[in-house]
Amino acid sequence: MKVLVLNGPNLGRLGRRQPEIYGHTTHDELAALCVEWGSGLGLEVEVRQTNHEGELLDRLNRAADEETPVVLNAAAWTHYSLALYDACAQLTAPLVEVHISEPKQRPEQFRHTSYVEPHAAATISGQGIDGYRQALEFIAARGAH
Ligand code: DQA
Repeated sequence: MKVLVLNGPNLGRLGRRQPEIYGHTTHDELAALCVEWGSGLGLEVEVRQTNHEGELLDRLNRAADEETPVVLNAAAWTHYSLALYDACAQLTAPLVEVHISEPKQRPEQFRHTSYVEPHAAATISGQGIDGYRQALEFIAARGAH
């Protein structure tokens, strides 16, 4: 089964970006781990990161057409994008929301709202990059429907 792992803005700088919050693993390393974890679970994982909201929306629209399960860390867009809310609403295969940190425990009030969560089969937060492994496990157990 194919699974798409989509990472939103600023996650391309993982490893260098606020490592005290997001850790030292780079995005390339995370992508390789996701592929490896996925193959151990019998999943064909594709990982994409973008700083361009339209690109994320295009990928989600394609995932809707192809009924592909999605692991999504929409980063800051999580907290304010209504277009992202609409894109997630149309997905039919499982959507798992991931955050490396625990946004609801962070001091900024704006991080306490998620426009992804209402459409997610599960939300995994505050587990560091292991959250992605847990999300892939969830999808492997759940299947594409
Ligand atoms: C994040 C949490 C968001 O609040 C933040 O904007 C991010 C990363 C996380 O993975 O913890 O960019 O999604």
